[in-house]
Amino acid sequence: MTNAAFQQCINPACRATYDVTEVKVGCAKCGSLLDILYDWSRLSVPKSLGFFEHRWATKGTGIQGRLDFSGVWRFRELMPFYRTDADIVTIGEGRTQLQQADLLAKRMGMKPGHLHLQYEGLNPSGSFKDNGMTAAFTHARMVGAHKVACASTGNTSASLAMFASLAEMQGIVFIGTGKISFGKLSQALDYGALTLQVKGDFDDCLRRIRQIAVDVPALGVYLMNSVNPFRLEGQKSIMYRILEALNWESPDWVIVPGGNMGNCSAFGKAFMELKELGLIKKIPRLAIINAHGANTLHQLVNNDGLKWNGGKFDREKVGKLYAAMDESNYKAHTVASAIEISRPVNLPKALRALDFMNGVVREVTDEEILEHRAMVARWGFGCEPASAASVAGLRKLLDEQVISPDETVACILTGHELKDPNVTVQYHTGLDMKSVQDLAPKKTPHGKLANQPVQVDDDLASIVKALGGDPSMLAGIEFKKTSPNLPVGEY
Ligand code: F0G
Repeated sequence: MTNAAFQQCINPACRATYDVTEVKVGCAKCGSLLDILYDWSRLSVPKSLGFFEHRWATKGTGIQGRLDFSGVWRFRELMPFYRTDADIVTIGEGRTQLQQADLLAKRMGMKPGHLHLQYEGLNPSGSFKDNGMTAAFTHARMVGAHKVACASTGNTSASLAMFASLAEMQGIVFIGTGKISFGKLSQALDYGALTLQVKGDFDDCLRRIRQIAVDVPALGVYLMNSVNPFRLEGQKSIMYRILEALNWESPDWVIVPGGNMGNCSAFGKAFMELKELGLIKKIPRLAIINAHGANTLHQLVNNDGLKWNGGKFDREKVGKLYAAMDESNYKAHTVASAIEISRPVNLPKALRALDFMNGVVREVTDEEILEHRAMVARWGFGCEPASAASVAGLRKLLDEQVISPDETVACILTGHELKDPNVTVQYHTGLDMKSVQDLAPKKTPHGKLANQPVQVDDDLASIVKALGGDPSMLAGIEFKKTSPNLPVGEY
């Protein structure tokens, strides 16, 4: 390896490495997930986290000014996979805030000064995804990609579409029909992404986009979902900003909603590296919160006792659960549409994060999510339903006395309140605006920039056609690597 940064398979029995300039969504040898690793001894790493503070004062629109302005890249020494500053694609992401939420703490039965809310909805596209997209787009630019794509429950598509438009790449998003909130759909359309509404749910969309990106290289599609290890490098910065806001002290707990498990995986990696570099003393504990209607991690960890086990986690347990889901034709279902996911692709990394951060997993009902979303809005700045799973999870952990009222807690609020106003209006009035709008007569859009979504069947030939390819290019391709029945970590 000539570069100080490289990609490495997370499977300890494999540990294959790849150059950072290779485009991979999994290990070519064993199919496991990849990490971006660094030979820190060859890099210049700050001696203390306080080093980053001098960047708050950087002025100007030059490259240093723009990188220091970004809440991701002001920590660039901790994610040094790029070659030069000119590679970096930034739109001013990551300027979010940690609110000391005393009013909410009071209602939760916590002591003042102990509950903090990290508002990632304050990013340019309204969710935490921008932290990861800036890093993945930087890699996409490094490797000369022109078409970038993702499957999404909404926020990834909004973020990808915004970055693609500003980086002058073609954005392509796969969303499940009727699955995403209007706020998020409207963003993908507004930013000009080719929006495919696939007849299926998020899990179906992700399977299809992985098939396209991995097995149909002729289409030249670069995958932006969180299986892309570069995305997670950017998402580590959410933890750096929490430390920064707490004067570089770790909280006792970090609580995060779990969907595809990219965020919690990134948080685990952030702390593994900070510890290795001697930049922090205390590792916070991690709580990952599933919605009851999309509770794969909860089932595997709490019911089946699944553990990271130094990387030798029991894949059979995962395979068994997935086979049972297939058999009963199980589909995830929750009001928190952002985390309506049954096969989290980053499951192995989530197990690793739980292991390193002495973590726990809990599930919360839709009712609990709705009540806590309303509380965050009433006594904070508000958030979308999935984000409130973190606060509902905190309530559960306080009730169980796993967390005590005088511990310091940071709940990650992953998306903005205005992402899903339908849920809010319905909560307060009982009116389902979405179904009212669905019944309204349709007019042909005539705006000069109108960008209509394209409806497609959950079928590869239709998808290739919608992407401008010729379905005959599928002849002879074996898709066995992307079989939906393979356990996680295999592609
Ligand atoms: N919260 C929100 C608001 C999200 O949009 C997502 C994921 C999550 C939590 C879960 O994060 O996947 O890192 O565990 N949304 C993805 C999307 C799947 O397509 O927008 P995770």
